[in-house]
Amino acid sequence: MIFEWRQDYSVNVKQIDLQHQEILESMHFIYDSLMSKKSPDIINKELEVLMNHANAHFLTEEMYFKEFNYDGAAEHIEAHNKLRRDAGDFVIKIKQVNGDTYEIVFELIDFLENWLVDHLETLDKKYTKCFNEHGLY
Ligand SMILES: [Fe+2]
Ligand SMILES: [Fe+2]
Repeated sequence: MIFEWRQDYSVNVKQIDLQHQEILESMHFIYDSLMSKKSPDIINKELEVLMNHANAHFLTEEMYFKEFNYDGAAEHIEAHNKLRRDAGDFVIKIKQVNGDTYEIVFELIDFLENWLVDHLETLDKKYTKCFNEHGLY
């Protein structure tokens, strides 16, 4: 199953792993809806759920960056902001879709996959050492 949490996604911080699991669950819902050709309205509602989880989660990570004076903070926050902007752009694009979401399906799946691979699997893992060193597991 695509967008299913696996142990190797772990950043070795329980609270954050749980948030990532929620995010992946929301991504999986979107993927399923795209595959079963749900209406643009439904896709946007699910995108909204994803962004609610994501925003709460980004704030959690950013709070710890500040608390632990994490040296990768600026780059990481910029990456969060780009995800926020891109997701917002998708909501607008999907609203402009007439009837079928076909044209944005691959673009949206690509966006979610990049989020998973480039952000969750790559960038997030960089703070594990810092967070663990400050006693956060
Ligand atoms: Fe994250
Ligand atoms: Fe992050």
